[in-house]
Amino acid sequence: MSTLDLFAPEPDDTARMAQLRQSLHAHGHSYYVLDAPTVPDAEYDRLFRELQALEARHPELITPDSPTQRVGGKPLDGFAPVRHAVPMLSIRTETDTEASGAENFDARIRRELGLGPSDPAIDYVAEPKFDGLAMSLRYQQGVLVQAATRGDGEVGEDVTQNIRTLGQIPLRIVAPALGTDVSSLPPEVAHFALGRPGGETCPSVPAVLEVRGEVYMRRDDFEALNDRQRLAGQKCFVNPRNAAAGAVRQLDPAIAAQRPLSFYAYGLGAVTPPEAGGPVWQSHFEMMQALKRWGFPVSELVKQAQGAPELVAYYAAIGQQRDGLGFDIDGVVYKVNSLALQRQLGFVTREPRWAVAHKFPAQEMLTTVLAIDVQVGRTGKLTPVAKLAPVFVGGVTVTNATLHNEDEARRKDVRVGDTVIVRRAGDVIPEVVSVLLDKRLDEPAVFTMPRQCPVCGSAAVREEGEADYRCTGGLFCSAQRKQSLLHFAQRRAVEVEGLGDKLVDQLVDAGIINTLPDLYRLGFTALAKLARMADKSAQNILDALEKSKQTTLPRFLFGLGIRHVGEATAKALARHFGKLDAIMDAPEEALLAVADVGPIVAKSIRTFFDQAHNREVVEQLRACGVTWPEGEPAPVAAQPLSGQTFVLTGTLPTLGREEAKALIEAAGGKVAGSVSKKTSFVVAGAEAGSKLDKARELGVAVLDEAQLKELLDGGA
Ligand code: IVH
Repeated sequence: MSTLDLFAPEPDDTARMAQLRQSLHAHGHSYYVLDAPTVPDAEYDRLFRELQALEARHPELITPDSPTQRVGGKPLDGFAPVRHAVPMLSIRTETDTEASGAENFDARIRRELGLGPSDPAIDYVAEPKFDGLAMSLRYQQGVLVQAATRGDGEVGEDVTQNIRTLGQIPLRIVAPALGTDVSSLPPEVAHFALGRPGGETCPSVPAVLEVRGEVYMRRDDFEALNDRQRLAGQKCFVNPRNAAAGAVRQLDPAIAAQRPLSFYAYGLGAVTPPEAGGPVWQSHFEMMQALKRWGFPVSELVKQAQGAPELVAYYAAIGQQRDGLGFDIDGVVYKVNSLALQRQLGFVTREPRWAVAHKFPAQEMLTTVLAIDVQVGRTGKLTPVAKLAPVFVGGVTVTNATLHNEDEARRKDVRVGDTVIVRRAGDVIPEVVSVLLDKRLDEPAVFTMPRQCPVCGSAAVREEGEADYRCTGGLFCSAQRKQSLLHFAQRRAVEVEGLGDKLVDQLVDAGIINTLPDLYRLGFTALAKLARMADKSAQNILDALEKSKQTTLPRFLFGLGIRHVGEATAKALARHFGKLDAIMDAPEEALLAVADVGPIVAKSIRTFFDQAHNREVVEQLRACGVTWPEGEPAPVAAQPLSGQTFVLTGTLPTLGREEAKALIEAAGGKVAGSVSKKTSFVVAGAEAGSKLDKARELGVAVLDEAQLKELLDGGA
């Protein structure tokens, strides 16, 4: 056998490469040209990498039309092509979603630069990887003359008309001429010049400046847009990125103008060189600061970092904040800060060596629907749930995804056997985003909600104006009994450690427990007799039950599972009335006086305690020894924030969104989702967006975290 034969491609590889090219073309076309993606990004990336790997093994089989040889799709007919003066490159992706992705990058850079272990750490800049679409903005003599999409990296599309509608993008860069003494400038101009060491001068705007960055849609803007689409009977967008892409490539600029887009700058294209009077920057970070001063949006999450440990820390910190940001990101980007080192490192094929994208675990993946079950909740609500072939998404293995209710299930038209995109973001329940209709083989039956409870057989009814079907079985329904027990025993209620769904299933199915008080009547013998229950575990459960008897009024109230009474309402009720009996006997008007309680909630509380069997349950629980310290009714005015409405926006330095909300509510304040004239304060953190603008527009007071804490402490 000659050496040539040894390296001859397997016929299988040749065929597979052709197949991959074809799939990638098809998906790429749907994604880039039609703005209607057919697979999640992670799936596209996987196919792309498989093709890249095969091409690395058989370079002689790379065809000029391979998707690896260009990025993106062809410009739409409607937009004029724009040849980029400096190509819009892509960056290499570190797909390892562990911290080691940052270490790999640092190790590679040090190797390329010939540094040894004793050489100092490298300066980097770490940035969010915004999930939108790349845009190149060309300014001549400080005036926006052209906005172009990336296209295939060489030639993009002229979308200037649409981009001009973005309020965040300066149409003209305002900056004083080089050498101007900033202290002599009026304040509205001087703020563009702030932050220079010494503060005295600011670079003039170069004759040619191409600012590159990401056009994206904020999540709240996306939700609002989809609400409008729904009202107008038009199709909804799958995610903010597709909505943004659709808006940018909208042929009618009037429609584009109604699509709320945002922009973050992250780099440069062509710039007047220093020898022709252009700016002299030493580092990427310095350049970003200049862009900021010139009025371009630069994310506050762009940070300088020293060496691998700070990149690792950045990856973890941004990963933590990811779900609380007002916009989608799919990872972070690390860049060598020094522009001289960037030049030294240069490029491999079409990617810079000095930058890398480090992805977070994908939040959307493909899988198949094995069955559609209907689950019965604590209040009898029937929820259709898709049972899925296990898939790793958002960092965990997912086997169930909610379809919410009948209308949602119909709208998405999910059927058994379908290939679907599942999404899991943060701690949110996984959901089916959409069905890949072209993968549906035969015509599976359309899903319909059962008219009977699948657990107890009682009638299931959907009340006028409600989205949900409910089982009418009440406590006759074992599913409702089980869920009530689990709700009462959960950590946020009275907390019975070790009482999970398996054990509750056993206890209810065996008829040992029917109502909440039965929990406290459990004996060791009954427990120890259960299958797979060791004596030690039985004793642990009894100890946990004993411990749970010492509780607090808010936990107990929440644990009762009164409809519409969540933790915050339970706390407000307890604070207001002090004693359980006062709540149980309060007329609706008295309940309405509680900060967190409106007519629906008040009615629900009243209805609950008007039912003899519910009062009976409370009495029996008390008789079993469940107890809490009762207090005096709190005068409403004693709370520092009562009567005040807050709106939270952006990322606060130490408090999470939920935490801040809980603190405000605990102090008697309300937290609202949008800013209006009635808003008392807007609490703004990093990356605050349109809500902050709105607050300024309406003259609503804006607080930072420290000022909020002062208010909470009763100061101010
Ligand atoms: S730098 C030469 N920085 O990610 C380097 N890109 O392939 C040019 N992206 O589609 C890119 N956030 O639009 C850079 N902070 C960031 C980014 C970022 C998102 C996008 C970019 C491009 C892809 C990189």
